[in-house]
Amino acid sequence: MNNKITSDSLRQMWLDFYREKGHAVIASASLIPENDPTVLFTTAGMHPLVPYLLGEPHPAGKRLADVQKCVRTGDIDEVGDNSHCTFFEMLGNWSLGDYFKKEMIAWSYEFLTSEKYLGIAPENLAVSVFAGDDDCPRDEESAKLWIACGIPESHVFYLPKENNWWGPAGKTGPCGPDTEMFILRGKPCGPQCSPACDCGHYLEIWNDVFMQYNKTADGKFEPMQRKNVDTGMGLERTLCILQGKESVYETDLFVPIVSEIEALSGKKYGASEADTRAMRIVADHVRTAVFMIGDEKGITCSNVDQGYILRRLLRRAIRFIKQLGMQQGDIARVAAAVIERYKAAYPELKESAQKITDEILREEERFEKTLLAGIREFEKLCGYLVGDTVSGKACFKLYDTYGFPIEMTEELAAERGLKINRADFEKLFDEHRQKSHAGAEQRFKGGLADNTEATARLHTATHLMHRALKTVLNDENVNQKGSNITAERLRFDFTFGRALTEEEVRAVEKLVNEAIAADVPVSCEEMTVDEAKAQGAVGLFASKYGEKVKVYTMGKFSKEICGGPHAARTGELGRFRIVKEQSSSSGVRRIKAVLE
Ligand code: ALA
Repeated sequence: MNNKITSDSLRQMWLDFYREKGHAVIASASLIPENDPTVLFTTAGMHPLVPYLLGEPHPAGKRLADVQKCVRTGDIDEVGDNSHCTFFEMLGNWSLGDYFKKEMIAWSYEFLTSEKYLGIAPENLAVSVFAGDDDCPRDEESAKLWIACGIPESHVFYLPKENNWWGPAGKTGPCGPDTEMFILRGKPCGPQCSPACDCGHYLEIWNDVFMQYNKTADGKFEPMQRKNVDTGMGLERTLCILQGKESVYETDLFVPIVSEIEALSGKKYGASEADTRAMRIVADHVRTAVFMIGDEKGITCSNVDQGYILRRLLRRAIRFIKQLGMQQGDIARVAAAVIERYKAAYPELKESAQKITDEILREEERFEKTLLAGIREFEKLCGYLVGDTVSGKACFKLYDTYGFPIEMTEELAAERGLKINRADFEKLFDEHRQKSHAGAEQRFKGGLADNTEATARLHTATHLMHRALKTVLNDENVNQKGSNITAERLRFDFTFGRALTEEEVRAVEKLVNEAIAADVPVSCEEMTVDEAKAQGAVGLFASKYGEKVKVYTMGKFSKEICGGPHAARTGELGRFRIVKEQSSSSGVRRIKAVLE
């Protein structure tokens, strides 16, 4: 096994391997998904590629590879054990209607076993394939391919949909069997031990998904004409296994960050369970916060959406920083260690280092103001408590007056063997939210994006509005900070320092409606970022590797770098109306608009 591997060499090795196999290397997309209302963050490498997996041609071609930044916040409270992280990097490669099982399995085998790459002995590997059921046949093809490569037949396991099937998360869409790869460690827990078992003998490192069916509305699985491959290998987990560590926090990704926490706290990682857990929580949450704030669509703390998750992570980190005996302001030094560790692979972090530090320290200050008083209030509440449940009303007071995220109150309660009345809290919270029009915290769902015609029309309207805002406000620095589209409305965040006047709002509507009335075709061209810029296209598309991008043009009204999809003509849009213009965060405005 190649145990000299580091995080930097593994990323490089992955991209080089796929470049050699004729793939275009594409840049990581933002952590905030474009035009996907179902999730707050990019949760997997395939997530930004959904439109292309659904059939849109990708400007870089049919073979793609990347390292994608991902955030999953479904289990924040599990962070602290040896494997959960809220941020991770996923190594991925895709075939968009090009190669399929034969090539993919041969390449997976080569990457895993060749001395030039991971160098894992075949007898230390196991794979699982789909066992077949009433809907779809057993994936004998994949099993045969693995055995032909050199995986021992006894190391091929057949498992049901529950284990070896991917997508759609929604009711319909592309899906198919997957084949997962495992490294063997230690002894099996018994004769029934298999990759479906979580005893730790089989450690999953890679997943190849073969999208070959379309699930229809009546629950049937139709074979697809154009088949895709979607694969994902978790960087942290793979490093942990290759470097022979018990925990991802002991890999080269985390060592300098954990060392900084040790130096600041004077405590030793591994010396006590409580301190080790606290150090992991601080390292994980600060790392994720750094990537969120330093993202190309930079997030700031707020009480809704992504900003709320950021706030929750920072406040939880601060609580454990205190537990470790660290000082106010030390969190910025942990953040600096994260930036230092990651700046080679993610230069954007270095560029926005000041902004990251400022945002983190500002949030710490806000929280400090109320934290002690809040903890005292909480202790007082516990003193009065009859029974073992903190009331929804008390939780709401801690939230509203002292800025305690509900999850934090829940955790404080659990530490004392208490429960909280979450349902009552949610009721009060909803009432409060409706009163304050604060907007809803989106629910974490995961899965394939909504791709209906309604969203395509709103997406086209977003481009027209983006241009109209620059024109009406007479400011080319009015730039997109975020876009979120559902079938009902668009929501657009943009940089601008003050509220729009009523006249400006009407003028933006008028320009967009003029572009709609002109009924011009929406055309799409592929070009390099430099060509697009030379043509005056707007857009934030990060291009580290000089790949081609799509530029959508709407007559003389708009030219923008974007992945699509869009309406065919502006005339299809209907009447455009701005429903609301409000502040989103400091220096950022938010518009909600509809097509009628
Ligand atoms: N999309 C697949 C996964 O996330 C590769 O595991």
